[in-house]
Amino acid sequence: MTLEHHQCFVDGKWLDTEDKATYPVNNPATGELIKQVSDSGIPEVLAAIDAAESAFNSFSTLLASERSALLMKWHDLILENKEGLANLATKESGKPIKEMRGEIDYSASFIRFYASEAERVYGDVIPTPFAQKQLIVQKKPIGVCAVITPWNFPFAMIARKAAPALAAGCTIIIKPAESTPLSALALAALAKEAGFPDGVINVLPASHGQTVGQALCENDRVRKLSFTGSTPVGKKLYAQSADTLKRLSLELGGNAPFIVFDDADIDKAVTGAIQSRYRNAGQTCVCANRFYIHSAIYDQFAEKITQAVKALKVGNGLEETTDIGPLINEAAIEKVGQLVDSALEQGAVCLTGGKRLNQQLPFFTPTVLSQVTQDMTITQTEIFGPVVTLIPFETESEVIQLANGTEYGLAAYLFTQQVGRPFRMAQQLAFGMLGVNTGMISTANAPFGGVKASGLGREGSYQGIEEYLDTQYVCLDIAE
Ligand code: SIN
Repeated sequence: MTLEHHQCFVDGKWLDTEDKATYPVNNPATGELIKQVSDSGIPEVLAAIDAAESAFNSFSTLLASERSALLMKWHDLILENKEGLANLATKESGKPIKEMRGEIDYSASFIRFYASEAERVYGDVIPTPFAQKQLIVQKKPIGVCAVITPWNFPFAMIARKAAPALAAGCTIIIKPAESTPLSALALAALAKEAGFPDGVINVLPASHGQTVGQALCENDRVRKLSFTGSTPVGKKLYAQSADTLKRLSLELGGNAPFIVFDDADIDKAVTGAIQSRYRNAGQTCVCANRFYIHSAIYDQFAEKITQAVKALKVGNGLEETTDIGPLINEAAIEKVGQLVDSALEQGAVCLTGGKRLNQQLPFFTPTVLSQVTQDMTITQTEIFGPVVTLIPFETESEVIQLANGTEYGLAAYLFTQQVGRPFRMAQQLAFGMLGVNTGMISTANAPFGGVKASGLGREGSYQGIEEYLDTQYVCLDIAE
């Protein structure tokens, strides 16, 4: 079977759009056209909603074990096709292929986890306060769900939403990022092969995501929206969903502090920093974004991380030795360049990198800036690029205040060997996730999500499936 599709996937069929519109998907590492892809509009949104709605009745009443088996078949096919998928997604996203293989394993792990979780959707029997009444609580799938996903994890963000939705018995309409529709369409092809009934999974590629997103949000028949992306877009979708009182999961931006105390294992902290900051060229929501380093070890840490960063190899992600691929597009590299320039103008010092590799393609050299301060624009902004900014601090209470000094609250990282400190600080750090002595926290088994401007809801773990379930209370009179 082929993994390469370019049309909309609606009701189990590959379809051109009504007006035959297409848009180009290019390889950010070379600028070359990969494929012209169908450009969905309102007619396709309505067709997908019709299909998902009519599939819901039968899909939601399958046995949980039957949905679980479909998920496991999908999981197996994804892993069997790992190389083909990795190749395709690296071409459209730029992510290095060795990292993309890891993303495919990560994606499959969500599907495997929720294949099991499908059979653990328990209700409750409540101890009754009435002599002749029994009180029962049952969980029911919400219905048709819209899933709007970003380009930085073209498989995993779909898997993290689709797997719990499908396990719960919901049907879905996926609107993938404009830049990475081919990965989403390949996942749909494998889902079809796995035997998911027509209409259960639909995919609408689109170059004008706003139109498709708005149509999904404003439609009453779509009962839930799960979105991963920027905070401004998340707020817009939130507002557009208000009239239909949709359930929402919003995984939005981050500005993760990475705190290293003078009692930390510095080599471990440097490894954690590289893993966290340079994953996908710095383009993840949980990337460490500002590095608070205790003044007693500041110079030592700066020296070690600069050496480690100089060793990173930048290049086309299809080469096995590449560590850092291109940024997703020209707008992304311009933003990173401007942030670095403004930090340098405001007094930061460049220890390595600091500029784009060439003027033609969006490769940015891995960068370390020292003498960065809290009030610089770069500290207050989610950089989304391969840049480390080093800020000195003196005390625990000072660094808690600095770390919390952002509208965001997704992930934070802390390196220390003091036993009590992580517990003390976890209580005070306003973030949904905290990595202690590690820069890698993501797993299907744990609840991923943020507070404040980083969004609502949790993905992964048993909490993730709750987001796709309604609670129904049944009061039963048992008198004869
Ligand atoms: C994200 O960037 O939103 C996802 C990162 C992850 O799952 O680790």
